[in-house]
Amino acid sequence: MSDEISDLGRKLRTVVGDNHLLQDADLTAGYSTDWTGRFQGHTPLVVRPANTFELAQVVILVAEAGLAIVPQGGNTGLVGGSVPLNGEIVVSTVRLDQCEAVDQLAQQVTLGAGVTLVQAQNHVASSSLVIGVDLAARDSCTIGGMIATNAGGINVLRYGAMREQVLGIEAVLADGSVISHLEGLEKDNTGYHLPSLLAGSEGTLAIITRARLRLHPYLPVRCTAMLAFSSVEDAVEATSALKRSVPSLHAVEVLFSDAMHLVSEHIGSAVPIGEKSAAWLIVEAAGSNDPLEELAGAIDDLGAVVVDVGVGVDTSSRNNLWQYREKVTEAISAKGTPHKLDVTLGASKLAEFISQLPSVVSALDGDLSVYMFGHLGDGNVHVNVLANNGGAPSERVDAAVLEYVAKLGGSISAEHGIGTAKKNFLHLNRTTAEISAFRSIKHALDPQQVLNPHVLLPQEDS
Ligand code: FAD
Ligand code: MLT
Ligand code: ZN
Repeated sequence: MSDEISDLGRKLRTVVGDNHLLQDADLTAGYSTDWTGRFQGHTPLVVRPANTFELAQVVILVAEAGLAIVPQGGNTGLVGGSVPLNGEIVVSTVRLDQCEAVDQLAQQVTLGAGVTLVQAQNHVASSSLVIGVDLAARDSCTIGGMIATNAGGINVLRYGAMREQVLGIEAVLADGSVISHLEGLEKDNTGYHLPSLLAGSEGTLAIITRARLRLHPYLPVRCTAMLAFSSVEDAVEATSALKRSVPSLHAVEVLFSDAMHLVSEHIGSAVPIGEKSAAWLIVEAAGSNDPLEELAGAIDDLGAVVVDVGVGVDTSSRNNLWQYREKVTEAISAKGTPHKLDVTLGASKLAEFISQLPSVVSALDGDLSVYMFGHLGDGNVHVNVLANNGGAPSERVDAAVLEYVAKLGGSISAEHGIGTAKKNFLHLNRTTAEISAFRSIKHALDPQQVLNPHVLLPQEDS
């Protein structure tokens, strides 16, 4: 270890205490590799401050040492933005785990950035309120990470993505100063809206320490249906019809054929309905009153395009249907290390994209498998590419998929962010003027490039 790092380590230890400055490789390893295993970095130091004040001191000391930081929450991000790929210092928010009392009158709560989604869900449940964003990584992903990535998940069509939930934010800037605006006023036009700026900033502009979130009434009655379709077009049209006709619609998720068969094999349960179908929707309706009749009527109206239907009304039968969607990420990772391409297409291009994508990939390399699933209600398809020989797919595959998305007018990142995985493709969706505006914002808030300097923005031509 260099003298510079030893000296920094000593100073950081005085701020966070011995137990929260990790140096041994076996202790830092878990902070250095991402959830998928695709992105493996290394770090000399992991620092775990206990509060905003300590975190600000940490940022100042790292900046003084001329080093860079990767902020890390639950490390469930899927684009290589949360791990130290260039030897950065990892600042973990794991100890910022305070949940303040729920403000029942305002239907809001202030949470530490390191609170996991499941902790937040449990905390607000006793007030019969819910957090608007839910996703399968709920046991590990944190409120700070969810804001930093503007996470989406399964209920975006009802409540919006994470940005829509954030009413106020506290964060440490790259110079160690703290911005804090947690009053939670629904209307507050006093200049730039910093929560919106930090949502989706992927740790490049500030480290979020606390957030004030909007909550929503808990909807106690739910029903879930799985619908099988023989064509992708039918599934896309059915999604549009359901969005029009079911006011209590809570989620419209999708699995396409290869992904459904993979997850079914992984969990050891047969494909529940329509085994030879091309697509399965998982549709959930939720309300204060029973939404079953409304959902059943809308499914009837879809007519013969629905090949088969399975319905879940109690928790166990609903969970049985949901497990096929919730466990698909795990099923793919159990088979290999995927390249994950998370994209959105406009409704009119979805079917074309999903049908053509396998041939776009196989034209480059015939020894790859493509698994697709996602949040069809938001036009969001998760394309996962695995090499059949157990190796890694080439970066050319990412380029081909993302260029195809851009050609169809879609977004190369629906909800996971840009990270390091997609920064060299940002130009596919953003003009030179936009990227230059991004750089100006980054430079204004972090002139010394302390915070996640290798994430989101492509390297500038020298
Ligand atoms: P991390 O992975 O730790 O970090 C992600 C990014 O945010 C990094 O750039 C990091 O530097 C930055 N960051 C973290 N904390 C802070 C902070 N306090 N301040 C500033 N920057 C910070 N994502 C979805 O959008 N929808 C899904 O449905 C979804 N499902 C998933 C299912 C599984 C099984 C898995 C493994 C992942 C899934 N994800 C999904 C991706 C991931 O869970 C989200 O991106 C999540 O928001 C990341 O939170 P995290 O705390 O793990 O952040
Ligand atoms: C999901 O919707 O399940 C996630 O975004 C995770 C993934 O893409 O694997
Ligand atoms: Zn997703």
